[in-house]
Amino acid sequence: MNTPAFTVWLTGLSGAGKSTIAGRLAKALQDRGVSRLEILDGDEVRRTLSAGAGFSREDRDAHIRRIAHVCRLLARHDVTTIVAAISPYRETRAFARDLIDNFVEVFVDAPLGVLEQRDPKGLYQKVKQGRIQQFTGVSDPYEPPEAPEVVCRTDREEVDESVAKILAALETRGYLATETDDSYSPEEAAQIQARLRNLGYL
Ligand code: ADX
Repeated sequence: MNTPAFTVWLTGLSGAGKSTIAGRLAKALQDRGVSRLEILDGDEVRRTLSAGAGFSREDRDAHIRRIAHVCRLLARHDVTTIVAAISPYRETRAFARDLIDNFVEVFVDAPLGVLEQRDPKGLYQKVKQGRIQQFTGVSDPYEPPEAPEVVCRTDREEVDESVAKILAALETRGYLATETDDSYSPEEAAQIQARLRNLGYL
């Protein structure tokens, strides 16, 4: 089965598990034959394409729109992309959805209290100490998706479960062949027939 390139857009608060899911999802997709694959991580893009961007709404929006444009360019060349960025504003995520074909929005969700406990980068601690301003979910807005294709509650499910839910959503939409799918595209079928004919079986 020929499947199109697609974009998985992981949105959610800092520390919710977006990058972890992105990494595991990428491995799972590679195992399933999706070889043309990129991860665009907010932190990393902020070091390169969005260098100098701050955390005002204007800066975040420009940064997210930039990521969306890159996804579109990659998709045009048949590259699937996984985005892991807070992307706090509904309107800007809607912009991305409109721009990009085969867009799958995943809300990576966990209660703020759990994130404050996890705090792998020590950021929530710094926010409490007043050392970081405009921190998403605490002192800056986060607008949860209203109709995401998938919700991953990372305080209640293992990473593998979250990844499995995303894979299932991709299968349902025909973006990913099911593991039992043994159908061939017309081109593949023609190649197999030609090979069998050459070998004298047909
Ligand atoms: S977004 O809001 O512009 O989509 P993005 O995902 O690229 O955010 O970057 C978020 C990362 O920047 C966080 O995981 C955290 O490491 C860091 N960060 C630093 N300051 C802030 C802040 N004020 N709000 C949110 N994240 C911040």
